[in-house]
Amino acid sequence: MFNIDSDIKKSSTIDKKFYTKNEIYQQVINKIFAFSWQLTTDRATINKTNIIPFRFLEKSINEPMILVKDDGIKCLSNVCTHRAHLLEEKSCNKNKLKCRYHGRTFKLNGQLNHAPGFNNASNFPTKDDNLIQYHAQNWHQFIFISMNPKINISNALDDISNRLPHYKFSDLIFDKHNSNSYYIKANWALYCENYLEGFHVPFVHKGLTKDINYDSYETIIIDNSVIQIAEASIGEKTIKDTNNIYAYYYWIFPNLMINIYEWGVSINIVEPLSINRTKINFLSYPFKGRTQPVNTSSSLDNVEMEDQNVVLNVQKGIESNAYKGGRYSPDHEKGLHYFHLLINKYLNDIST
Ligand code: FES
Ligand SMILES: [Fe+2]
Repeated sequence: MFNIDSDIKKSSTIDKKFYTKNEIYQQVINKIFAFSWQLTTDRATINKTNIIPFRFLEKSINEPMILVKDDGIKCLSNVCTHRAHLLEEKSCNKNKLKCRYHGRTFKLNGQLNHAPGFNNASNFPTKDDNLIQYHAQNWHQFIFISMNPKINISNALDDISNRLPHYKFSDLIFDKHNSNSYYIKANWALYCENYLEGFHVPFVHKGLTKDINYDSYETIIIDNSVIQIAEASIGEKTIKDTNNIYAYYYWIFPNLMINIYEWGVSINIVEPLSINRTKINFLSYPFKGRTQPVNTSSSLDNVEMEDQNVVLNVQKGIESNAYKGGRYSPDHEKGLHYFHLLINKYLNDIST
């Protein structure tokens, strides 16, 4: 669909119609997001209530699902197999799912349990009367859901575990106070692109630049993921049991960012709302007894605002007739180039 040379030295950036044409935005939803894994909740939340209804990518795919904890964690369709009434509206604790329209009940594995009024139906029930089951996987306490997991994220998650064997992910606790949802008027991919290069750091993030040793900044590409590693400046805090690392920044295709620091982890989930509107779920998971630093020149709240500011600015430029496209810096933008190659690969996939 797009002409992106696999050689970054020769390639131009993705065609700007990627950000401006609605037909392409729809294809991105249908051919990329529909096959993605989405970080949906964590174990602590499902331990409180074993039934959690939610919409998978509410503003684009909008599939009603229920996360269920039974003997394991499962994800089921929230749509009754009789006449499509939604089963659950609120998180709750239950050992059966009951449709309040005509009283049909389902077991927590999705199997039809009881269907009033169907004694005389022939060839009933069949497996089509059970609830559809979607894919669920967990990594440490985080729960990921997919409708159709064509985009493999295991290599990226394994890479985190392998690179940080001593990091106590299980001790991280969600901090609502420092978590936030941001709504920005920009295409979702522009937010990812800004994240995927450290090139802008000395220009945009003066505070952060002092904390890290920019000369050591490294970008590594693995399957469906880009890792950026920043070493700390002298005197700055580093992640325990690492070689002077200030932060690992993991981006996982298409829209997940896991940022690992000495105080804990922050997560950004970049959710497309429309072609030019995006929601960023910013989740803070500090270690017990710690909090995410705030209100300093290098703290995440400030860095986030600095990033959003440039992303909003780029959205305006991308809509201009004057801009036709650019080139990649071979030294600093290989993560961005890889992102565009992945977009192209999935959009070109004729099997979807
Ligand atoms: S729609 Fe659920 S029982 Fe009829
Ligand atoms: Fe940034």
